[in-house]
Amino acid sequence: MTILSTMWLMPLFTFIYVNGILPIEATHHVYRNLQSLSSDDSFKQPYRTAYHFQPPKNWINDPNGPLSYKGLYHLFYQYNPKGAVWGNIVWAHSVSTDLVNWTPLDPAIFPSQPSDINGCWSGSATILHGNKPAILYTGIDPMNHQVQNIAYPKNLSDPFLREWIKSPKNPLMEPTSENKINASSFRDPTSGWLGKDGNWRIIIGSKRNTRGIAILYKSKDFINWIKSKHPLHSAKGTGMWECPDFFPVLKIGRFGVDTSLNSDDVRHVLKVSLDDKKHDYYLIGTYNDEKDKFVPDKGFEEENIEQILRYDYGKYYASKTFFDDGKNRRILLGWVNESSSVADDIKKGWSGIHTIPRTIWLHKSGKQLIQWPVVEVEKLRVNPVKWPTKILKGGELFPINGVTAAQVSYVFFYYHKSYNAIF
Ligand SMILES: *[C@@H]1O[C@H](CO)[C@@H](O)[C@H](O)[C@H]1NC(C)=O
Ligand SMILES: *[C@@H]1O[C@H](CO)[C@@H](O)[C@H](O)[C@H]1NC(C)=O
Ligand SMILES: *[C@@H]1O[C@H](CO)[C@@H](O)[C@H](O)[C@H]1NC(C)=O
Repeated sequence: MTILSTMWLMPLFTFIYVNGILPIEATHHVYRNLQSLSSDDSFKQPYRTAYHFQPPKNWINDPNGPLSYKGLYHLFYQYNPKGAVWGNIVWAHSVSTDLVNWTPLDPAIFPSQPSDINGCWSGSATILHGNKPAILYTGIDPMNHQVQNIAYPKNLSDPFLREWIKSPKNPLMEPTSENKINASSFRDPTSGWLGKDGNWRIIIGSKRNTRGIAILYKSKDFINWIKSKHPLHSAKGTGMWECPDFFPVLKIGRFGVDTSLNSDDVRHVLKVSLDDKKHDYYLIGTYNDEKDKFVPDKGFEEENIEQILRYDYGKYYASKTFFDDGKNRRILLGWVNESSSVADDIKKGWSGIHTIPRTIWLHKSGKQLIQWPVVEVEKLRVNPVKWPTKILKGGELFPINGVTAAQVSYVFFYYHKSYNAIF
């Protein structure tokens, strides 16, 4: 598989290349002299995880386009096929029957046409009419502008969806002097959803000055897209919105629903990854699909950004959900930037993992989401250690004898007086 080299860009950059670090308008530093360095195979791997998602080697970041098709789960992800730091980014591809054990396949999408020749960045999958998957992703064009492209499976009879072809109409959406979109801040299309008018909608992350924006586009055929006059939502002072995600959750119960469902039975969730803060924040609210506006509930106003809820309070970014129609659940995947030093990443030959996939639903208070590792992960549990009920005090040491720390999974059941029990 040929990954086109970006070496021809080198002369442009030599004047800032002296220390080997390039600033880039996206999230990542560019270590051009390190991004094709292979690892030291003799290095022992005490920190590789055993049941989190990670490919055999190299750098990964955002989960992209998760979907379920003909009995297989597909996960794509931002990947450097040549090294352990960010660079040479392609859409790598793995498949699974249980969201726990993954088989890597060849990269699905890699630079091959002008509209993505400088990179294939994040995006999402949508299952179109007739059970046909399509992927929208951000391409970096010859002018280093961020544009949106589409790819389809080459062979719908292949459950592995190994090969993807790109539309000759790419790019489908691009910054122009009329639409005044910032060409360096226009990325990460969501999965599409259908409005009652039968048209598809997607949002794309952007900003205007320091206002974060979810730019809305509509389409009859998923190819010809028209930018709406108004964004789906925006918030002042929040900076660039990366990897937006927009989906309905049932008011009552744990089942997930199709991304297009909008009725009195659902609320809507808008998640954005704030580039300035490197955290994933979400809002719960109402989606009016006639006005194409998302209105956050009281308590989620923009003045409140510091209080707005996060999916996770550790290292967690660029998450994305998908609806698993086989098991009627919505599944959340996220990237853990485990933040080893660049020197350590090169030594170990990899960087980044994904979280255990989590099922996600609305708490009955309607005020926050609940997440729980997918039930399949329980297959991995052996040798349980049980303790009688114990109230833990802050700072108390709680040693568990007879197990080694590297592969222990802890399951604590919390009870907090502000909830009527979590479930
Ligand atoms: C499509 O995939 C199916 C199932 O893997 C395979 O049998 C068939 O030969 C493929 N068709 C083409 C044109 O590659
Ligand atoms: C466009 O986005 C880039 C990258 O964040 C930023 O440096 C630039 O100031 C933005 N331009 C405007 C007009 O907001
Ligand atoms: C990832 O970690 C590195 C090193 O700690 C940090 O510089 C970078 O900002 C982080 N990026 C994100 C998206 O968390």
